[in-house]
Amino acid sequence: MQIRSYFSGMFRKTQNLRILIVLAIFFVLASFSRYQGSLELSIDEDGQVQSMPQRDNNLHFTHHIATYNQKDIKPWTHGDSVALRTIEGQKVVEYLTASPYQVPSAENEYQQTLLKPDHFLTLTKRFRIYRSLWKYLESYYNSSVAEHRQDEFFSAPPKEIAVDVDFLQRLEQASFPWIVRDHKTSYSLYNKFKNGGRGIVMCVGNGHAKYARTAVKALREVVKTKLPIEIFYTGLPDLSPENRAWFESIENVKTIDVTTLVDNELLVLQGWAAKPFALMVSSFSEVILMDSDVYYMIDPELMFEDNGYKETGTLYFYDRTLFPGAGGDKKRWMESFLPTMSNHPAKTRWFRLKGDHEMESGVVVFNKKDHFLGLLAICKLNDLYERVQVTYEKSWGDKESFWIAMEMIQERYSFIRYGGGVIGNVGDAIPFWEVLPQDEINRYNQGEDLVATNPYHPKTGEIKHVEKPRRDRVCGNQLHFDHKGQPLWWNSGVVRNKFVKDSPYLKYTAFVRDEDGTWDFDQTCLVQKNPGAIMEVDWEQRKLAFEVLKVDREVALEYNDPNVKDILDIPKLVRADGAKGGRGNNEAV
Ligand SMILES: *[C@@H]1O[C@H](CO)[C@@H](O)[C@H](O)[C@H]1NC(C)=O
Repeated sequence: MQIRSYFSGMFRKTQNLRILIVLAIFFVLASFSRYQGSLELSIDEDGQVQSMPQRDNNLHFTHHIATYNQKDIKPWTHGDSVALRTIEGQKVVEYLTASPYQVPSAENEYQQTLLKPDHFLTLTKRFRIYRSLWKYLESYYNSSVAEHRQDEFFSAPPKEIAVDVDFLQRLEQASFPWIVRDHKTSYSLYNKFKNGGRGIVMCVGNGHAKYARTAVKALREVVKTKLPIEIFYTGLPDLSPENRAWFESIENVKTIDVTTLVDNELLVLQGWAAKPFALMVSSFSEVILMDSDVYYMIDPELMFEDNGYKETGTLYFYDRTLFPGAGGDKKRWMESFLPTMSNHPAKTRWFRLKGDHEMESGVVVFNKKDHFLGLLAICKLNDLYERVQVTYEKSWGDKESFWIAMEMIQERYSFIRYGGGVIGNVGDAIPFWEVLPQDEINRYNQGEDLVATNPYHPKTGEIKHVEKPRRDRVCGNQLHFDHKGQPLWWNSGVVRNKFVKDSPYLKYTAFVRDEDGTWDFDQTCLVQKNPGAIMEVDWEQRKLAFEVLKVDREVALEYNDPNVKDILDIPKLVRADGAKGGRGNNEAV
């Protein structure tokens, strides 16, 4: 005994020493941000050390992979089935499927649809049970298909699982009533697209058709993708017959009214909210969901080869690092409805108070076979009252719902590590028309040469201003990166500012990564934090971006209506215009 305790005391001492050494190494490493030295370790934003045996292909270096503690994920067991048959079990059922609305009080007498304050917490609990029960009953559904009696799945289940099946049905009706009209069960919806292959899904209304025409043409003619495309709109007024015919004239492009495929009386889909539902009802099983103003540097089909996608079944992109703390304490908000989380939220800018945006949902790569239940949860966060009262209040439209819902229902997802950067021109020169004071216009009209270098607007008496470019920044469109930090796709159009009339085409000479710059949000510029952060766009990619400009001009000429789409001059593609003098590499300037 004596001897043993002596030894264990010594052991404890050496163990303490070892812990100290490990801590010391850790803090030295942690003092470098995003350390990537020869120790083959990487340190995440939350301070977790990850090993990375092979730099390029190591997922934990190139992606953020949401990983759950296995003990937090509870499968449905026989014990649960037994408990379900008790009075307490039935109380849980009542609680989880109760009305989500508050009882109208004196203050909100007319507000029949005000969600309960803890509604999202209830949703989380409901989703997690639904997921385990769904998987538990899947083999029973499969056997009912094999016996061609899947239509009786809910109505005539075998006695031994009847209570479980009833619970599943009640959970489904409480959560996803908008699929109940057209699908006997969620399994039948799942089976419908199971072998749907890969494709692109877009939501396009008349307002965005002028961007989407360029995007679709660029997909077919510039990056030459063969993926089929489904374009969704929300009811007949949303996308005109003329627009629909235009899209359908392109090979392998279909237009579909999403409101005919879900119960839209419940959902009242419009704008952003249509996106996850279009993803859900599209015929594809693996989908690239993209906004109408997204343009690629590669055939987007290659995104299905991304290692984060292959590992988790999703590929997500981060938004820019903007407005820290603006939307209130997001960490507290998430903790209020997530009893447990994956390792991901701790890495987010929300939790580190670094920014108010996390995800950019302009491109979402999604495997519906792996994440059918995750997608149902995403759709739920975009349901009518959930989106109006919570999701779009707490965040910018649909975008954060793609990962938050996955946390609620405990499904894995991956983000490319790089934040949203900028691609365009070095310098902030934006030509704009400035209204001159009337006396100056009068003097001009009397023949005085007011501003020799600035042309005079013939109709309005304004002058065209060009600000002197500041060479410490890149201004233009929002850029998103592949796992190596190279330009992959961009959005927000192909001109300097798509909200300004006659805003000129960009030259796509330079880019800056979010991590290396500070945002001038109003001007859509990233100002480099340190000299050397401005990168030159690869010559091949510059040529490709110019092909997109040509396509955009063709679309404008086809409209032949400057009130719809500006007909702009394409700048000269000059190699020497590159950020680094056109030497065709993207080393820092
Ligand atoms: C049920 O069938 C689907 C496809 O038919 C299959 O992917 C799934 O693994 C099956 N599940 C079970 C639990 O048998």
